[in-house]
Amino acid sequence: MTIKHFLKFNDLDASEIESIFDKTKWIKEKYKAYEKYWPLVDRTLVMIFEKASTRTRLSFESGMHQLGGSAIYLNTKDSQLGRGEPAEDAAQVISRMSDAVMIRTFEQDIIERFANNSRVPVINGLTNEYHPCQILADIFTFIEKRGSIKGRTVAWIGDSNNVCNTWLQAAELLDFNIHVSTPKGYEVEVERAGLYGSDHFEEFEDPMEAARGADIVTTDVWTSMGFEDEKKERVKDFADWQVDEDMMKLANKDALFMHCLPAHRGEEVSAKVIDGPQSIVWEEAENRLHTQKALLEYLITGK
Ligand code: CP
Ligand code: NVA
Repeated sequence: MTIKHFLKFNDLDASEIESIFDKTKWIKEKYKAYEKYWPLVDRTLVMIFEKASTRTRLSFESGMHQLGGSAIYLNTKDSQLGRGEPAEDAAQVISRMSDAVMIRTFEQDIIERFANNSRVPVINGLTNEYHPCQILADIFTFIEKRGSIKGRTVAWIGDSNNVCNTWLQAAELLDFNIHVSTPKGYEVEVERAGLYGSDHFEEFEDPMEAARGADIVTTDVWTSMGFEDEKKERVKDFADWQVDEDMMKLANKDALFMHCLPAHRGEEVSAKVIDGPQSIVWEEAENRLHTQKALLEYLITGK
């Protein structure tokens, strides 16, 4: 069997994503009914974290347990990874002792080099460039609430970061539209987002205009992990890129608000919006668990 990795959203094709969503629905129903489902008995996931995490660690670790397998947590401080062992060597060793590896790190290049030397599937648990597991959960959550995402419009308000890049890739793959509004100097790097002549993506100078007619309004922190040195400047530059009630009024009547979390109320989103009736952030976080269980089963067993 050829090894399949999930390093970018479009490492899987649309039909694979679709069947992961079908499996997610089934896995979630079983879990809610307290029914055991153990397709990964004796399988081990190694999780490597070079950046902090709550949701990603918890969802992968409990997900593996719920599927009958186990998960091992490594971080850079306590392993040889922080002492300069090359990603290529680490991949050779770690992939001989596990059935899948999840990595949260800095540059995408690190995870690509790891995957190129891995005997088992590698999953991107967030890099500076992409966060594919997040968007898998986000789209599944939208589908649960509103049906197919095809032809819908997502408004991305704020930084053109890893989460934004992944939404852009997903839009091209699953045929929906993205309106992006960033402050000047923080625009989408089309090449990094993996978009070449995409007709699914439109940029807006005015964030209010980006939100007009959207089915999902979404945002993320102004300063991502690894960019903390820019925080002071970013707080000034992003001041007008807050999702608030006035912005939500311009979106479609039944529009949903999404955020990958952690969130900063009063910065990228107002408390009234994130804690309001259009917000589905908690369901979105929970679905990290269910979608990743379906992803793990698919990558490890091919089913
Ligand atoms: N959304 C997300 O990936 O959260 P964590 O940083 O807590 O894993
Ligand atoms: N863009 C954020 C997402 C955190 C889940 C970051 O990279 O820090």
